[in-house]
Amino acid sequence: MEIEKIAVIGFGVMGREITRLCAQHGFKVVARDISDGILKAGMEEIKSGRWGLEKTVEKGKMTREEAEAALSRIEVTTDLKYACNDADYVIEAVPESLELKKKVFAELDEICPEHTILASNTSSLPVTQIAAATKRPEKVIGMHFFQPVVVMKLLEIVRGLLTSDETLEVSKRLAEQLGRVIAVVKDMGTGFPSIRLSHALAVEAIRIVEEGVATPKDVDIILKYGYNHPMGQFEFTDWIGLELRAKVWEEMYKLTGDSKWRTPPLMRQLITAGFKGDPKRWKGSRGGFYEYFGQQRST
Ligand SMILES: NC(=O)c1ccc[n+]([C@@H]2O[C@H](COP(=O)([O-])OP(=O)(O)OC[C@H]3O[C@@H](n4cnc5c(N)ncnc54)[C@H](O)[C@@H]3O)[C@@H](O)[C@H]2O)c1
Repeated sequence: MEIEKIAVIGFGVMGREITRLCAQHGFKVVARDISDGILKAGMEEIKSGRWGLEKTVEKGKMTREEAEAALSRIEVTTDLKYACNDADYVIEAVPESLELKKKVFAELDEICPEHTILASNTSSLPVTQIAAATKRPEKVIGMHFFQPVVVMKLLEIVRGLLTSDETLEVSKRLAEQLGRVIAVVKDMGTGFPSIRLSHALAVEAIRIVEEGVATPKDVDIILKYGYNHPMGQFEFTDWIGLELRAKVWEEMYKLTGDSKWRTPPLMRQLITAGFKGDPKRWKGSRGGFYEYFGQQRST
């Protein structure tokens, strides 16, 4: 199956970046969100945001003509039918809620042509459960991009219980066309490897600090200079946002009932006290782990 047109559902942080990536690699993209204001803000970000096309041109990684051609391939709409009724491939990037994703997938199943593959960018929710909201579970797959999409090449492709070989092959080909490095994993309802690994490291790092064994900065120095991680765990958590990380873990706890997913007490307390993350990124935040411990980021 050849993909010509891609529909992206949800034009927030991830939807914008995925739209831009697809357009940059020659696909026609229609992005759908629920308000004109969000669509306008998203297009501005694609053009002139931190990871936007203008910056890419300034860095000499793309010509102005290529950037303009990419922009000309993007359309935005609030009309789900318009976005999807002739799409070959749909990438959903609405907020991380199983109920919402099931509702969106049931709608997509009604609107999209029979051949259309429905992918979710979920970072944690079971693809098999999302697929069960449709009459085409064999055509449903997880395409887990990482943020910022322009920089992070990994694409974790998540195969649901009923995802067909053809859907997987088409998705792998698309991923390669988008310049991604892929890891194919199974959805067992226990969390994808990317989140299990990052969770294990984050929780151990927080426990070390809770025990008073080391400060956030010293833990980050160990990871960066002993293990060559580009960012320390606390720098990463402060940047991603404490609330956002904890929300994903709590969702995993609800889904699996496994107590390993419980948010460590120190992190819960910080969130309650208004420490949402790096204040440069999280407006109204008192800071992240670094601010609470009175430390400066980066050495
Ligand atoms: N932010 C990240 O770092 C990251 C990384 C990887 C994966 N993800 C996953 O990507 C998905 C989206 O996350 P995000 O950070 O972009 O969220 P976000 O809140 O920034 O964007 C979600 C967008 O979806 C829109 N939306 C809500 N209901 C909709 C509907 N019915 N139809 C169309 N649009 C609708 C919202 O208006 C919003 O603009 C989530 O599943 C998340 O887990 C996020």
